[in-house]
Amino acid sequence: MCGIVAYLGEKQAYPILINGLRRLEYRGYDSAGVALLEGDALTIYKCQGKVSDLESHINGRSTVGTVGIGHTRWATHGPPNDVNAHPHQGTSGDLALIHNGIIENYAPIKEELVHRGHVFRSDTDTEVLVHLIDDIQRSENVDLAEAVRLALSNVVGAYAIVVIDRKDPEVMVAARKSSPLVIGIGEGEFFCASDATPIVEHTKNVVYLEDGEIAVIDRTKGLKIRNIKNQVKTPFIQELEMQLEALEKGGYDHFMLKEIHEQSRSIRDSMRGRLNLGKGEVVLGGIKDYEQKFVNAKRILILGCGTSWHAGMVGEYLFEEFARIPVEVEYASEFRYRNPIVNEDDIVIAISQSGETADTLAAIELAKGRGAMIIGICNVVGSSIARVTHAGSYTHAGPEIGVASTKAFTAQVTVLTLMALMIGQKRGTLSGGNFYRLLNELDAIPDKVQKVLQKEAQIKYIADIYKDASNALYLGRGYTFPVALEGALKLKEISYIHAEGYPAAEMKHGPIALIDEAMPVFVIATKGASYEKVVSNIQEVKARKGKIIAIVTEGDTMVKDLADHVIEIPETADPLVPLLSVVPLQLISYHIAVMRGCNVDQPRNLAKSVTVE
Ligand code: G6P
Repeated sequence: MCGIVAYLGEKQAYPILINGLRRLEYRGYDSAGVALLEGDALTIYKCQGKVSDLESHINGRSTVGTVGIGHTRWATHGPPNDVNAHPHQGTSGDLALIHNGIIENYAPIKEELVHRGHVFRSDTDTEVLVHLIDDIQRSENVDLAEAVRLALSNVVGAYAIVVIDRKDPEVMVAARKSSPLVIGIGEGEFFCASDATPIVEHTKNVVYLEDGEIAVIDRTKGLKIRNIKNQVKTPFIQELEMQLEALEKGGYDHFMLKEIHEQSRSIRDSMRGRLNLGKGEVVLGGIKDYEQKFVNAKRILILGCGTSWHAGMVGEYLFEEFARIPVEVEYASEFRYRNPIVNEDDIVIAISQSGETADTLAAIELAKGRGAMIIGICNVVGSSIARVTHAGSYTHAGPEIGVASTKAFTAQVTVLTLMALMIGQKRGTLSGGNFYRLLNELDAIPDKVQKVLQKEAQIKYIADIYKDASNALYLGRGYTFPVALEGALKLKEISYIHAEGYPAAEMKHGPIALIDEAMPVFVIATKGASYEKVVSNIQEVKARKGKIIAIVTEGDTMVKDLADHVIEIPETADPLVPLLSVVPLQLISYHIAVMRGCNVDQPRNLAKSVTVE
């Protein structure tokens, strides 16, 4: 996600901010900006592109200021461009604000502010926040810290923010909820950042801001923390143990591992503002205008490539079960070169992490030309696919840098689940009780993913046993068949071990011939509709001396007795099992690849975004 860095002290802020933004580059971003404050002079520079582009843009211009804020943006609301880059300003021009997160209720707040005469320049949710603070400061006649507190009391969503004010250059205000923010305390100087990487070279003393806390950093009075209810909090100063060398990739050895570990948060971000348990509804703002067409669809066509195609397969099961609409999932590359039958009452869902995959783009154009309505599920905001589709829902997974897709898959499945639930409810094909039960189960998934991630040591142990295998088989059934395909893809992509995913029962029609004592067979055997059948398939593998590594539901005993290893995952509803069961398979592949000395983040011959057919 985006990166935040800020400084208040005696030194010139600009070099510290630029250096800090470079340290945060590993997070991924598409634009960058800084605001510098000296006396009552507030200067803002921002542009699309890299930190080096920002430096060239600033080159030769004034960078004076002992207070400053810097930001790298990864677009969520509005395409990556100069105007949408942070910092943002309110109507008065006194404030500059940087933000990491998503403001869920930005639309009604914006409407109210427009009504009050505010003029917006960008498409971002962030700009709403700075206008709101600006408005409150004036209408209530309060200082910056109080205006921030009052504004945040009206905001639903996730944020880490830092704000500075031309009228009060001695003060910097920071706040957080669900997005991390660290404050560094040096000798007569303070730093704020999304993580400790830009801070550690300046000071080891840090305070991790808690959810709902607002920090007021005053040049003379120092650091004071209050919460949103205006209660005073005592800052807990910790000493950083992080070494400078460990800063890249936020402390993880590889982007892929970092992205696997981000999934609890990224799934939550995919649902943010969309799943409303209180009201018992799913709202997908991006497809709202097309809802009725979706509800009346005679058929859904899902298009994608690679991992996105696997997510589409999970989508097939979801839409057919919840909404009772027939679904076909197609490789975009095959679809575009057939003479496919596309009807005007078909809905086409195009799935793409990058939003740039050439085959998916061409397939969309073909379907569009035949009159279908196209809905995009993309991760990269403003990407080509996001632009050519009629409507869509972003996955909000944050930038994915490892070539092997991990958090994008779970985010795509999350969005597909939300869509299928919403359409099922509106079509009346999903009973109210079932709909509500599934909403609750979905809401609990991020915490359950976290529990799965805690099994990493055990998964690493299993990886060590099978790291020298030449072949591997992955089996699943129903909702977990696409997970078996995805597990096999992850292993072959990054470890170069030949792996195949199969529907468990189909094994008998070929792959069973390959099974011997050297063959690891990964089976997703969670409790659910196909459990007993999968147990029989496990027995068939055992009879041929294959090694079974089973993903099972917590507390399972039957498979435990049969398998060589079991990895337990928390219980959930059948349709949500893919979101949990894929995680141990990602981790197994990662650790096997590392043990084999492979370049995990950039596997040979593969590209992150395939923009040629
Ligand atoms: C490439 C990537 C895969 C990805 C596929 C589709 O092959 O290496 O990780 O799943 O393209 O990409 P998309 O960006 O359209 O999801």
